[in-house]
Amino acid sequence: MDVVGKVAVVTGSGRGLGRAYAEALAAAGAAVVVNDVDGDAAKQVVDAIESAGGRATAVVAPVGETAVADQLVATAVAEFGRLDVMVTNAGILRDRVLWKMSDEEFDDVIRVHLRGTFTCARAAAQRMREQGEGGRLILVASPAGQRGNFGQTNYAAAKAGIAAMARTWAMELAKAGILVNAVVPVAATEMTRTIPAFAPAIEEAERTGAPLPRWLRRDEGLGTVEDVASLIVFLASDASAEVTGQAIGIGGDRLALWSHPAEKSVAYSQDGWTAEGIAASWSSGIGAEPESYGIPAPQGR
Ligand SMILES: NC(=O)c1ccc[n+]([C@@H]2O[C@H](COP(=O)([O-])OP(=O)(O)OC[C@H]3O[C@@H](n4cnc5c(N)ncnc54)[C@H](O)[C@@H]3O)[C@@H](O)[C@H]2O)c1
Repeated sequence: MDVVGKVAVVTGSGRGLGRAYAEALAAAGAAVVVNDVDGDAAKQVVDAIESAGGRATAVVAPVGETAVADQLVATAVAEFGRLDVMVTNAGILRDRVLWKMSDEEFDDVIRVHLRGTFTCARAAAQRMREQGEGGRLILVASPAGQRGNFGQTNYAAAKAGIAAMARTWAMELAKAGILVNAVVPVAATEMTRTIPAFAPAIEEAERTGAPLPRWLRRDEGLGTVEDVASLIVFLASDASAEVTGQAIGIGGDRLALWSHPAEKSVAYSQDGWTAEGIAASWSSGIGAEPESYGIPAPQGR
């Protein structure tokens, strides 16, 4: 599958998943703007893409503010003439339980993930609408945002917001032919390698050079960053021309379509509900089968 002639921005692509996305898009023929706050890492990715015969340029700047989003789009246009694909991947973690989380920890995560996605997608949508040839916004969500996760108030809120923005923008941008999807990735990176149930297997695979074990790849859906990059190439390509407004999970050997929130059970009471009426009907009515929440705990081996 190729994306020849397309121009992509990948935020946070100095390492981890973003680097794999940038390299895979370049290998499939796209010109790529590599963005990161780590200048050395961004330069290394550009060098790697160019040595493999691809086209790339670096923008070293923190996403979150409008000026940086505008700079990313302007660089794509100045260096490669247009913009077709925006991948909003940059991210940080500042995990802490609610009662200990600081304002700064909350704001930092919201700024990079939620505001970074908003500002970059907005700048990209403006340019793509001007070009008049459609485009792709590929947003990065997370199982934590889909389900909630212990210690991740800031991150889960940002990622749930990103999935909500994908659905909203899929509606708003449909007429312009701009497709918007959220990717829900799982991969062994700096961000996930310390999860206790996974760490020994990841370390073992790295030490021996062997692939990650089948239980991790299949049951837990945790694999390499390259596993996830295939989905980014698909969503950037003409092959995904019918795909928009979706949240698509990928990791290891698993590929999944996430459901969107929808009413699961409904009850009616003529002239409205009193608190007593809700209490009386809860356990035999809409509360009979409450929803589960949280990412299922890894099983480990
Ligand atoms: N690894 C996983 O399993 C997983 C699961 C769900 C979601 N994600 C999401 O995927 C994305 C990438 O995750 P990863 O595991 O590769 O993380 P990572 O920490 O390995 O890489 C993140 C990159 O983003 C860069 N970055 C941080 N703040 C930035 C900013 N303001 N502007 C530009 N660059 C910035 C970092 O320097 C780093 O290079 C994140 O959005 C993350 O939340 C990852």
